Amino acid sequence: MNVLVTGGAGYIGSHAVQRLLRDGHQVVALDSLIRGHARTMELLRERPGGDRLTFVRADVGDRSLVESVLRAHKIDGVMHFAALAAVGESVDFPMLYYRNNVSAMIALLDACDAVGVERFVFSSSCATYGQPPDAMVPIPEHCPKSPMSPYGMTKLHGEHLLADLSESCARRKRPFGFAALRYFNVAGCDRTGLLGEDHDPETHIIPVVLQAALLRRESVAIFGTDYPTPDGTCVRDYVHVEDLVDAHVAVLGALTAGDRRAYNLGIGKGYSVREIIRAVREVTKVDFKVVEKERRAGDPPRLFADPSSIRRDLGWRASVTDLHDIIASAHRWFLEHPRGYRS
Ligand code: UFG
Repeated sequence: MNVLVTGGAGYIGSHAVQRLLRDGHQVVALDSLIRGHARTMELLRERPGGDRLTFVRADVGDRSLVESVLRAHKIDGVMHFAALAAVGESVDFPMLYYRNNVSAMIALLDACDAVGVERFVFSSSCATYGQPPDAMVPIPEHCPKSPMSPYGMTKLHGEHLLADLSESCARRKRPFGFAALRYFNVAGCDRTGLLGEDHDPETHIIPVVLQAALLRRESVAIFGTDYPTPDGTCVRDYVHVEDLVDAHVAVLGALTAGDRRAYNLGIGKGYSVREIIRAVREVTKVDFKVVEKERRAGDPPRLFADPSSIRRDLGWRASVTDLHDIIASAHRWFLEHPRGYRS
């Protein structure tokens, strides 16, 4: 298949590109490199199958350029990862998020529609649910959507754009199938050690705690210790990035015209911030300073997935379910790349 991967030089996108190349696909990775890393493209080009990778440096909101890329490479399917994805930042700069995540996606979908792309896999988020009532955790896909942050809202808008486009394609008898994959907390790094997670600034809990363990930051702040959870800190479902990518590949292969799928991608179990800190201490065997701070705006207390729909439909389930294994894969990359991709 000829696949366009938007955000292909980012954390999850680069892992997806690696997997698609390994599976023999032709891949066009499109990335503005504002948050992505050119180095990922160099590394992947040097690997077997790297000759099937084309890199286009562009903003996904550049409709005419994206349309010409879709035509030139006869793209059959799109995996759309390009987005800003930090909850706290989205609360501070909501319009930045709407521009990058919603306006740009409108341009991308417009281009896909003009060219007749038939399959679309969208990086959505569990942030679309907000905080469901206790009785709905683990969270099933039909859970009501009530985002608590602009980030979550942008992802919900993305799903609505796809639903409307799909409806219109059906009326025009144009084949189009999509899936919204609602990620829980993606973590870990490629187990071959090639690709990793490198955000600047880093805000995600596992890399932040690892940075403290590797003495690259003075301390870890726990944002909120008075949540209604067993130890007072937020609970999340951490899914390994390679398992996540595996689900994308399964979904892309299965999509048919008229599909409007939505799947939760998580392991089905939650871990608290304190449990993360404990597990990082155990994996790294390093102690570090922890400070308790105020809650961070936009954080729901307790989120973990009911991932049974994708298991039932496609047989997917997370293969890495032990927090220590997820952390160990990230630890390895951080040890070998003390300055991220600049190392
Ligand atoms: N946290 C801390 N200290 C930190 C960083 C995070 O206590 O220094 C806490 C947060 O408050 C939260 C938990 O750790 O309770 C996890 O925070 P992350 O920032 O790692 O991730 P989020 O739960 O905010 O994840 C959300 C959505 C995902 C989405 C992701 C994108 O739930 O769907 O943002 O960044 F993919």
